[in-house]
This record gives sequence, C-alpha cells and structure tokens, in this order.
Amino acid sequence: MSTTNLNGLTIPQTQKAWVIVKMGKPREALVFDQNAPVPSLSEGEVLIKVQAAAFNPVGYKLMGLMPNFLMKRPHVAEHDFTGVIADANGTGLTPGEAVWGFIPVGLKIKTKQGSLAQYARVPTSHIVPRSPFLKPTEAAGLGLAGMTAYEALVYIGKLEPGQNLFVNGGSTAVGTVAIQIAKAIGAKVTVSGSGKREDFLRGFGVDGFVDYTKEPLHVQLERAPPPVKFHLIFDAVGDANVPFYTHSAAYMQPNGLYLTVAPVPAGWTNLPSVLNLLRLTFEVNRPLWLGGTPRRWQKLPVMTVTKEKLQGLARFVDEGQLKPVVDSVFEFDDVLAAYDRIMSQRALGKVVVRVDPEAE
Ligand SMILES: NC(=O)c1ccc[n+]([C@@H]2O[C@H](COP(=O)([O-])OP(=O)(O)OC[C@H]3O[C@@H](n4cnc5c(N)ncnc54)[C@H](OP(=O)(O)O)[C@@H]3O)[C@@H](O)[C@H]2O)c1
Repeated sequence: MSTTNLNGLTIPQTQKAWVIVKMGKPREALVFDQNAPVPSLSEGEVLIKVQAAAFNPVGYKLMGLMPNFLMKRPHVAEHDFTGVIADANGTGLTPGEAVWGFIPVGLKIKTKQGSLAQYARVPTSHIVPRSPFLKPTEAAGLGLAGMTAYEALVYIGKLEPGQNLFVNGGSTAVGTVAIQIAKAIGAKVTVSGSGKREDFLRGFGVDGFVDYTKEPLHVQLERAPPPVKFHLIFDAVGDANVPFYTHSAAYMQPNGLYLTVAPVPAGWTNLPSVLNLLRLTFEVNRPLWLGGTPRRWQKLPVMTVTKEKLQGLARFVDEGQLKPVVDSVFEFDDVLAAYDRIMSQRALGKVVVRVDPEAE
C-alpha cells in the first residue's frame, strides 16, 4: 500500500530495513524487516529516501557491547546516509533535493531511525546538500568519519597553516578525511599506515610516512623525530597505544595536543584490551610529579551535530579539496557481508551499501 504526498512523490507505508533487535554480532543481532513502518514526521524533520548508507565502527561496536535497555532496541542500524528529500514537511527544503547527513547515536535511540532503511526521518539540522560531482555511493560515508576528522582538526585541534600534524591511521576512513582537510588548511602532515598503503597515502601529498607494522611508532619517531615537533597528534585508529602517548614529548611540541578518537575495548571479556585501556586511563591521569607525561591528552567528545559544522565540512567537498574514499559497495540484501568487511578493520575508506538499487 502507498500514499502520495502533496509534492506528488509516492511514499509507501512500509519499507525494507535492517533492524537491530538485540545485543550481539551483526549475524545474531540484525533482522532484515521487509515490512518496517515508514516513519511519520515531527516538526522540523524531513523524510529522506535513502539512496546509499555507509558503515562506521561505532555501529558494530555498540551492537556488540551495549545492552538493549541502554540502546532502547529495536531500532534501524547505522548512521551515515545520502538520499533525496521525499517529504519536506513544510521546512522550506525542496522535495527531490539530494542531501547527505548522519543520524547520531542519541537521535537513533530517541527516534529508532537508522540509515539502513529505505526511508529515514531526520531533522533539517542533520543534512546538507550533496555536491553535484559526488555520486551517492561516494557521498554516503561522509557523515560521521568526515565530521569526526573535521571536529578534531578544525574545532578542537585548531590546526593552522604551516603547523605539523601527525595522523595515526592515515588509511582509516577518518584518517583519509583528516589528511585531506589538513592539506587544504596548509599543514604539514605525517601519517602512519602499513607499508602497502604508502603509495596511496603519498597520493594525498603527505609529507612523511611511518610504517606501523615495522616497529612501534614511538620507537621510530624517537629515533627520527620531525625537525619541527608535531603541534597536533590525531589518533584516528583508537587502539589505545600507551607508549605512543607516554613517549610523545620526544616528538610533540610542549603545548601540543594528543587527540584521539575514543578508544574502546575490543570486548568486555577481552582482558588484554580492557587492561590496556585501564593503563592508558592511568597514564593520562598520572600527575607530572608522579612521572606523568608532560603533554596534553584528550579524547574526542561525543559528536554534537550542527548545521554549521556540516556546512564547514561540505565546503571542503564543494571546493574540490576533499574526495571521499570508498573501499567497497554492497547491495542492500548483502549487508551482513558488508559488516564482515568493516569488521575486518582492513577497509581502505568507506564500506558502503547501495540501498536504492538505481543509485550510482
Ligand atoms: N568512522 C567514524 O565516524 C568514527 C567516529 C568516531 C570514532 N571513530 C573511531 O575511529 C577509529 C577509525 O574508524 P574508521 O571508520 O576510520 O576505521 P576503518 O576505516 O575501518 O579502519 C580500517 C583501516 O585502519 C588501518 N589500521 C588498522 N590498524 C591500524 C594501526 N594500528 N595503525 C594504523 N592504521 C591501522 C587499516 O590499514 P591496514 O589494513 O593497512 O593496516 C585500514 O585501512 C575507530 O576506532 C572508530 O571507532 C570513528
């Protein structure tokens, strides 16, 4: 059954959606609901016909770590999307307009919305127009990784032209955006990555490359520190690398900042990973007079989405300075294989799902 809205666009009452019904790995936690309701809208929200969605580690991490009573399941999976406005709901936006955006965790819990559905209900503050030169499968993954990198470098790191930045994890989705933003700002950028990614990363014009698979980062950087120590270290891996922080005085400016995407344990039962995180917590809180590290450490706060930040990120795309990197594109009924890919932690850029089979 379908209804027709005032703008002549046909909107069905039910849709296909991947719904998280319980805590666990994607194969246990997800149900492909062929009859999920198309959401109704509140004031200030629009209905998006999703063309493509993309994955972030936060999706499978929360699925596996957080119990139902905290996440208020069931709700639709994932956060990043691009699509067209199906119902502008009196907001002044134009039906049919192409947009991209994302649904933060808090909003997902409140509204049960996610991006792995044919339709999603989102506030207008969470979307921006899609550049005409981006295909839907390219724009799908800009949201969370892009905003994370943007918030880290521009809002918190306050990176300036000529400053020296180290990106730990240049080939992560977050890292690829961070490098491009930093180069657009005019910073010098050194990255870590595995040797096989060096040519790819040098393609962005990075100034230095450290192969993390050869020797620990802190050993390599202590042996050959940069001529000008880093003003900002941005950890886009989130692997709670304790010695990389505790040795950072050797390669980071006294007033520099070690900024990390929030590291979480690989699982509550993974003892080494939990202990490592506890050790990191101890080190970042250890006072200087007790042998603490004389450098600032900060973890990125939970993202607050604002239109201003989305527009700031979009400007880099619109001006041709930021091109999303796509690792792979999966079809909508192949979502479990897409989870396998992102969970391998070997993806180079975004793992994308084509929700609308006609999306490029
Ligand atoms: N995506 C987001 O929006 C977002 C937001 C907030 C926080 N975070 C956090 O940020 C981290 C990265 O997320 P992501 O989506 O960008 O990850 P991702 O794209 O899935 O990361 C995969 C990449 O990480 C590289 N890698 C793995 N271990 C590495 C290491 N020790 N050093 C350097 N590179 C390494 C892999 O390269 P090789 O195969 O060559 O090793 C691969 O290219 C995660 O901890 C995530 O929870 C992400």
